[in-house]
Amino acid sequence: MKIKNSESLFKKSKDFIAGGVNSPVRAFKSVGGIPIFFKKARGCYLYDEDGNKYLDFVGSWGPMILGHSNKHIINAIKKQASKGISFGAPTKNELEIAKIIKSYFPSMEKIRMVSSGTEATMSCVRLARGFTNRKLIIKFTGCYHGHVDSLLVKAGSGVATLGIPGSPGIPEELSKLTLSLPYNSVSDIQEAFKIYKDQIAAVIIEPIAGNMGFIEPDKSFLNEVNSLCKTNQSILIFDEVMTGFRVSRGGAQELFDITPDLTALGKIVGGGLPVGVYGGRTEIMNYIAPDGPVYQAGTLSGNPIAVSAGTALLKQLKDKGLYKKLEDKGSQFLQELSGYAAGVGIPFSTNIRGGMFGYFFAEKLPKNFEDVQKSEIGMFTQFFKGMLSENIYLPPSAFESCFLSTEHSEEQLSKTAEIAHKVFKKIKNEI
Ligand SMILES: Cc1ncc(COP(=O)(O)O)c(C=O)c1O
Repeated sequence: MKIKNSESLFKKSKDFIAGGVNSPVRAFKSVGGIPIFFKKARGCYLYDEDGNKYLDFVGSWGPMILGHSNKHIINAIKKQASKGISFGAPTKNELEIAKIIKSYFPSMEKIRMVSSGTEATMSCVRLARGFTNRKLIIKFTGCYHGHVDSLLVKAGSGVATLGIPGSPGIPEELSKLTLSLPYNSVSDIQEAFKIYKDQIAAVIIEPIAGNMGFIEPDKSFLNEVNSLCKTNQSILIFDEVMTGFRVSRGGAQELFDITPDLTALGKIVGGGLPVGVYGGRTEIMNYIAPDGPVYQAGTLSGNPIAVSAGTALLKQLKDKGLYKKLEDKGSQFLQELSGYAAGVGIPFSTNIRGGMFGYFFAEKLPKNFEDVQKSEIGMFTQFFKGMLSENIYLPPSAFESCFLSTEHSEEQLSKTAEIAHKVFKKIKNEI
């Protein structure tokens, strides 16, 4: 496969854009090679600058649950653009999307719109600290909550991909206020609350982790996190930027039947445009300016075009049956993959919820970040490269999740599994 145009664009971009990309994981650093530059996307396919066509399992990192270039979303964007692009003032559309969000996420009694997932989690943390008048934040190692100063401690996603433990530029005094604990460890969080109980402002968690690969919490762990927060009046923040409207319509909180105090959303909620949302208990949300003392604002927050795209997508998620269908066809696909891997003698495990899935080159599904690091990352890289050369576009990192859309057909998935079989055999021969 020729990627000469991508190569040349990447080379030139490096002279003008830091690292040649506008977000680190896109640079393909951990898997090697050249990032592909895309010019078009339709349904479940991506088209690059060299005329190659790829079956897409990234889906813009989540938002494309209905596939690329969904006609209702495009029409909504065009319609709104013809009326006005940005007013910097409230619109009726913001009320409409707020009502839909609340109907899907009842815990979000009141919301506030922002322009990215990072802004949503950052605002949750500030609000939790302001509301409780406490300083400490607990997060979990390998969870990624955007590039918020307080949350870039032992994070997943690009931070894990590049092997960065934290980030220069974040004062030690601030990092010290964030405790990072192992995911799925009940004893560690119990211990932390025993020591720091009335200093803990909030616990922030990906209620299904998607940024160290795809890792589910044990129900008992999540219940314990919830109950410790309640007992100690700490704010429980569910970061559902990735899982929201993805693992089920009402996110992981619906699957696990837990009501967090605050929730952060992103990705799907903007239909592919830059939108984030946070929200939760009225009493806490009333603490934000202008009604309350905690300041948070945004010039383009609730931007009419972004809101119209998000609304058009969310309306199409009305039928919850969509998630079962996604999970059924995804499970079938993963079963085929696992069967081929076992036949070849490659350690392989998979997991899926709704339209989000993960795979690891490990016999058993990892439970936390440490387990993921012990998986065969070298095999992951070989697999990624082998699949890419066969026009299958997977996330270029072992510390990310994969995304299915309603546009992926069973036939396409079965063909993908056959391609994977070929790649598994190649990996085995090269060991
Ligand atoms: C769980 C989670 N939280 C927060 C973020 C940050 O969102 P954004 O990249 O829109 O700032 C991400 C991004 O991948 C995420 O996966």
